[in-house]
Amino acid sequence: MSSEHTIATVVGGGVIGLSVAWRAAAAGWPVRLLDPEPVRGGASWLAGGMLAPVTEAWPGEEDVLRLGEESLRRWPQFARDLSAAGIDPGLAGHGTIVLAFDSADAGHLEILAGHLRSLGRAVESLTSREARRLAPGIGAVRGGLHVPGDLAVDNRKLLTALAEAGAQQGVEFRRERLASLDDVPGPVVLAAGAWTGQLHPSLAQAVRPLKGEILRLRPRRGCLPPPPHTVRAIVEGRPIYLVPRADGELVLGATQYEAGFDQAVTARGVRELLEGAERILPGITEYELVETAAGLRAGSRDALPYVGEVGEGVYVATGHHRNGLLMAPVTADAVLAWLAGEAPPAEIAAASPARLEKERV
Ligand code: GLY
Repeated sequence: MSSEHTIATVVGGGVIGLSVAWRAAAAGWPVRLLDPEPVRGGASWLAGGMLAPVTEAWPGEEDVLRLGEESLRRWPQFARDLSAAGIDPGLAGHGTIVLAFDSADAGHLEILAGHLRSLGRAVESLTSREARRLAPGIGAVRGGLHVPGDLAVDNRKLLTALAEAGAQQGVEFRRERLASLDDVPGPVVLAAGAWTGQLHPSLAQAVRPLKGEILRLRPRRGCLPPPPHTVRAIVEGRPIYLVPRADGELVLGATQYEAGFDQAVTARGVRELLEGAERILPGITEYELVETAAGLRAGSRDALPYVGEVGEGVYVATGHHRNGLLMAPVTADAVLAWLAGEAPPAEIAAASPARLEKERV
């Protein structure tokens, strides 16, 4: 089948680029993937791994929710296909608990719950006792929400699985940067996250880095284990999440602010995260802090990604903001549909980069 296709080039070895490369190679394309440091070099390696369109949703962002939910629907099959290639990507179906600590938080949760119910989404309000039963060890909360449909994935297992599955299908990994679009022989997919704006003029002003600091902790002997669910809360106006991994590790994220391409971990970022986490899970102060890191999300202008054709045979797949892991399956399926000359999933239309043209007129 590969003889029918010219070579396809994927620029970027994070979750989006690896997913596209694997799916394209499995569909018969000869694929080369360019990235000086695939798998470990970008934001995906540092992600929390929440696949949580509902608890990231906010009124006014219905297109983001629809796209996220469509991708979430595709996640179990995506994970099964990866597992069939021999590596389990660590998909977990433990849902999300969102906690409220004061009356302002409780108001925030009421708005979120009302919004989600109006969209027909499953969401259950929790008293403080119910929240503590579901998430033992949490601090003094006023109440919360349980969103049972959210999934989570171990981002590092996932990236390892995607690279392995791609290699099995013949993806050629080249540890280099794209020199020039002029020299690319066939279709090209630009999926270099926050750096994609430097690769095509249409995105130069549209994609921006959004820094996020994230920590990994591990309970020491005698510590209460992490709660079995993803737990989120807004603490002093800042969103905090705790995502348990099957091996006992706990991912604590994440700050979010604009700092250009700076990837230094700041003392303030670590302090904010630990202070917020202590409110949620007081026992965390006895955990071992095993990693501090900072990554750059690819921000867009409107929280939707840019996925589509920006020139003949030139596709972009970036700007996924806080939702790169979540939206990888639907993004890869859309790009594959375009490469095959087929109709993409309907929900991807909202992510068309053509909206940038409309902003310009
Ligand atoms: N998806 C969560 C984050 O970007 O921090």
